[in-house]
Amino acid sequence: MNVDFDRLTNNLNIDSIRWDTYKGKDILPLWVADMDFQSPPCVVEALNARVRKGIYGYTHTPDSFNQVISHYLYEHYQWEVDPDWIIVLPSVVSGLYTAVQQLTKENEGVLVPNPIYHHLRLACTEAKRNLIEMSLQLVENRWVLPGRELPEIINSNTKLALFCNPQNPGSTVFTREELRAFGELCVQKDLWICSDEIHAGLVLEEGKKHIPLASISKEISERTITLMSLNKTFNFPGIGLAWAVAENPALRKAIKTGLHQTIAGPSLLAYTASIAAIAEGEPWRLQLVEYLRKNRNLITSKIEAIDSLSIGKLEGSYLAWIDCTNLQHPNPHKLFLDAGLALSPGSQFGNPQFVRLNFGTQKTRLLMALDIIEKVGHTKRLQ
Ligand SMILES: Cc1ncc(COP(=O)(O)O)c(C=O)c1O
Repeated sequence: MNVDFDRLTNNLNIDSIRWDTYKGKDILPLWVADMDFQSPPCVVEALNARVRKGIYGYTHTPDSFNQVISHYLYEHYQWEVDPDWIIVLPSVVSGLYTAVQQLTKENEGVLVPNPIYHHLRLACTEAKRNLIEMSLQLVENRWVLPGRELPEIINSNTKLALFCNPQNPGSTVFTREELRAFGELCVQKDLWICSDEIHAGLVLEEGKKHIPLASISKEISERTITLMSLNKTFNFPGIGLAWAVAENPALRKAIKTGLHQTIAGPSLLAYTASIAAIAEGEPWRLQLVEYLRKNRNLITSKIEAIDSLSIGKLEGSYLAWIDCTNLQHPNPHKLFLDAGLALSPGSQFGNPQFVRLNFGTQKTRLLMALDIIEKVGHTKRLQ
């Protein structure tokens, strides 16, 4: 199978949030985190076959589903997960909010990285939890957790740590040593952990692998809820299915709260898509990773040549966190938007001096985006 990731897709008139927001305007939309590629043919075919049956009644989780996920986790991450530890959810975000609400009380402290995918932060602030930011630091060009300062910001009121690996928006794929240090600190400080690993299938850095935080040790596993999904990797977030893994029965009970009552289960098509992706999607995924690596290399060399912008190492997923501090502009996002490129504003993730570029797109579109980025960067330098 040879996938043509260069083939331009038409993303208009399919109710795409990313594309429809700027419909009719001369703006290239590389913001919300879904990709411009079609899902793998095996997923499209499985969905077609299921849709053709014409019967869409109430659906239970397919009998073998947890087994399939458990096998997948072992095959890809050498992580031994009992199928009973898995709870199927409609989305990772619903799992994040439930974890915060069930594992902490009002005004208790929750550790959250900064910058971070905004729902990790919102899950805390909306529930009136006390947000304690772990400010990521750029060390050897990678966004990593603060080392020495971290134990000092944790106090007896801190109950939970939210984590994200691969990191969004920083793109870090954490090493075993980094994971162990963080996990052991959480054990020592008696914190629950909720680890969002939705980007696990998209490690770009050669020689690196995704390591689930809970796979580091039994002690860490006992206090961790891991949230995963195939939505990002196989590009079907509009269908939506996620799962939580929790070895500890108390954590499983917590994450099930509200499920099928206030939180709807996944749609029947989400099972179809996920099973097809696991069964036959691997060759497509490997080619996708290759393609994204080339896009990443283009971005890195372009940004490194622009004095007013900088970027850390892009190790995972298709999101580039670009530092615009040297543009010396109060709203870099607006500068790019006015020039015809919609990026995600850094303020969404915790730092308005950054923008996030979604490079899950065809090379032609990426090159157009990089031209705009270069022009904006260059114009500012001439001022
Ligand atoms: C880190 C992270 N978690 C969760 C999500 C959303 O997951 P879901 O669509 O399953 O709620 C995203 C989407 O961008 C994400 O980047």
